[in-house]
Amino acid sequence: MYKPLEIAKNIFYVGVNDRTKPLFENLWPLPYGVSYNAYLVVDKQTALIDTVDLCYSDVFFQKITSVLGNRPIDYLIVNHMEPDHSGSIAWLVSKYPEIRIVGNKRTLDMLKGFYGITRNVVLIQDLEELHLGECTLQFYLTPMVHWPETMMTYVPEKKTLFSADAFGAFGALDGGVLDTQLTPGRYRDEMIRYYSNIVGKFGSPVQTALNKLSGIDIDAICSTHGPVWTQKTQVAEVFNLYDQLSRYEADPGLVIAYGSMYGHTEQLAEIIASSAAEHGLKKIVMHNVSKSHESDILRDVFAYKGLLIGSPTYNNKLYPGVESLLSGLQNRYMKNRFFGCFGSFTWSDASAKQLAAFAEASEFEMIADPVIMKQAMLSEVVEKARNLGQCMARKLLSGVEVVPNNSANCH
Ligand code: FEO
Repeated sequence: MYKPLEIAKNIFYVGVNDRTKPLFENLWPLPYGVSYNAYLVVDKQTALIDTVDLCYSDVFFQKITSVLGNRPIDYLIVNHMEPDHSGSIAWLVSKYPEIRIVGNKRTLDMLKGFYGITRNVVLIQDLEELHLGECTLQFYLTPMVHWPETMMTYVPEKKTLFSADAFGAFGALDGGVLDTQLTPGRYRDEMIRYYSNIVGKFGSPVQTALNKLSGIDIDAICSTHGPVWTQKTQVAEVFNLYDQLSRYEADPGLVIAYGSMYGHTEQLAEIIASSAAEHGLKKIVMHNVSKSHESDILRDVFAYKGLLIGSPTYNNKLYPGVESLLSGLQNRYMKNRFFGCFGSFTWSDASAKQLAAFAEASEFEMIADPVIMKQAMLSEVVEKARNLGQCMARKLLSGVEVVPNNSANCH
């Protein structure tokens, strides 16, 4: 039923699309689905690189047999053990009992732990090679991108990198698989959301991996999720994006995230945003934490350098959705942001203090005083809110364009 999908000479795509699951890791929305990518290298010996979620093992098998017919698979290379990629291993072994399973020490520990598999395993070390015939598989251990056992497999003869989760994106592959067959820009936001939600905690290991890969010549990146990157500009773009995100660098834009029970904190958010826009800032994204999914807010905070967070005081603490967002940011070691905060209270002013403490712990640069509103919007509060928006616009735009002198009271 399936036609073999050869993405480069002797390399076949055998991954699958999942447009059924609503949530990835039962947490992160999948509005456009997701692909679980796997690849076959067909040479004197054959190697399958990664498997797919168990739910799709039947489709996966049909795709493999469309390429191999009755020919066996000699090796399974396990770049990553998270079950969206390892879920079909036990099933695969039942179909190909003589397959040799290749992984590093941590991979093999997990293989035994998850699936009880200890037979026909091949332990490899960092930078070890496996020769299939004309093609060589070189293994680069890249721990914590995204799990401790994660590694990448490079085929120098094809200048092709099988990168596990790295450079992956949410979004099913609608028709094409290669970036030349689809609209790559469509996946950019979903790549940032994938990075920020799934890999974002591991900026430092990602930097280590990028340095390790910097000496190799890469013409194609085959990730476990999203398009296969083959165009020179796309390969460079996804590398640069990963480098930027893992250094917590960002574009000069602003995220305003706020919680609001009765609209007071929201009014502050609107005044601040209008002021920032009046002072020349165009890239502004606003999120009501009670409505926006946290995965979208995290994506935008990773993408933009400016961050303003607003919260009413709630039970003498932060508003729950704001508290959850801060926890998500701290969990990902978010740093290197211009920051400001605002909020409202009725009898106890707790939220601004907690937001300021968060900023200090994160070593964010506080750009102006917090804006606090007690019960109702007084004219001096409006002025402070306008000042906060103006300060953020100035901070983000300085260095990008000429910022006129003005009377803003910024830090
Ligand atoms: Fe796509 Fe970390 O699994």
